[in-house]
Amino acid sequence: MTADLHSVAAEALEAVSAAPDLAALEAVRTRYLGRGDGELTSFRRGLGKIPDPDGRRQMGQMVNELVQRVGDALDERQRAIERNARAQSLEMEALDLTRPAPPLRRGRLSPVTLAAREIRRIFGLLGFEAVDGPEVEYDRYNFTLVNQPPGHPARDSQDTFYIDDWRLLRTHTSPVQIRSMLIRGAPQRVIVPGKTYRRDHDATHMPMFHQVEALCIDEGIAVSDLKGSLEFFARSFFGASSVLQWRPHHFPFTEPSLELELACVVCHGSGCSVCKYSGWLELLGSGMVHPQVLRNGGVDPERYSGFAFGMGIERAAMLAWGIPDMRLLYDNDVRFLVPETAIDGPSERSAP
Ligand code: DAH
Repeated sequence: MTADLHSVAAEALEAVSAAPDLAALEAVRTRYLGRGDGELTSFRRGLGKIPDPDGRRQMGQMVNELVQRVGDALDERQRAIERNARAQSLEMEALDLTRPAPPLRRGRLSPVTLAAREIRRIFGLLGFEAVDGPEVEYDRYNFTLVNQPPGHPARDSQDTFYIDDWRLLRTHTSPVQIRSMLIRGAPQRVIVPGKTYRRDHDATHMPMFHQVEALCIDEGIAVSDLKGSLEFFARSFFGASSVLQWRPHHFPFTEPSLELELACVVCHGSGCSVCKYSGWLELLGSGMVHPQVLRNGGVDPERYSGFAFGMGIERAAMLAWGIPDMRLLYDNDVRFLVPETAIDGPSERSAP
C-alpha cells in the first residue's frame, strides 16, 4: 500500500508540472484530490482496514502529507500559470508612446469647391466681389422680382421645393441680384456662388446643386462688356484655346439674353452623344439686366445698365475635368478629391 501511495503521489506531482494551463490543472486536481474518489484521497478509505492502530496512524499521516504536498504543488503551478498569462498579455498590449505615428492623409477638396474657388478667383481679377444670399428665399425674390410673375412655368411646384406659401428653397442664385442691388445700389460688381435646389434627380441633375451668378451694374455697361468679361472667364477656366460661340436666348430677367456655348470637350465639335451631335455644349445663361429688374432692385434704368450671368458649377466642373455623371461628385469617391495644392486653372490640371 505504501509503495502504491508513493507511486500515485509521484505520478500526481508529474501531472501537475506538465499541466499547460488552468483547465488541465483543474483536471489533475479532480483526478488525484477529488473528494472521496480522487486517486490519492481514496487511500483514506483503505485506512480502516489496517488492524494495527500505530500502522494506521502512520499511514494516515503519510496520506495526509502527500495530499498536502500535491495540493501545494497544484497551488504553486496555478500561480505560475497565472503569472505567465499576465506577462504575456502585458507584452502583447505594450504601447510604445514614443513610436512615430503613421502619416496622416491630407484633406482634399471636392471638384465643386475647387471650381467655385477658381470662378471666384477669375472674377476677382475683373473686380467682382464675392457675396452670398439665403438658401431659404422668399417666392417674391426668387420669382416675382426677377420677372417671373405668378403662372410662369418655372414656378411650377414640380420644379420647386416650397416651404409655405411665401417661402421656398431658392431655385437659382438670381434672387441675390435683387438683394445685392437693394444693399449696394449702383455701381456694383458681385459674384454669387451658392447652393440651389430643384426637384430633379438623374445623371445630369441633382436636387441640390450649385450655381454662380454675376451682376455688373454701372453707367454705360453694354453687351460688349458682357461678352468680353464672360469670354475672359471661359478662356481662363476652360483653357485659352477653348472654342466659344454665342447664341440668342430668352430669360425673363434679361433683355437681350445670350447663351454661351463651348465646343464639345469630347468630340471638339464633330458631334457625339455628349453634345447630342450638335458639337456644342451649353455653358451659361446671360444677358443685359432687364430694366424692370433694375427698378425692382431700386436702381434707375435711365442712368444705369448692367449685365448678369448664371451658371451651374457642377456642370462647369464636369466639363473642365471630363466627369461623366453628376452623381459621382457626391459619392465621396476619393479619386475625385484632387489635392488642395492644385491651384492652377482647371485647364492646366489633369482629370481628378
Ligand atoms: N437663373 C438662370 C437659371 O437658373 C440662369 C441665368 C441666366 C442667370 C441668365 C442670369 C442670367 O443672371 O442673366 O437657369
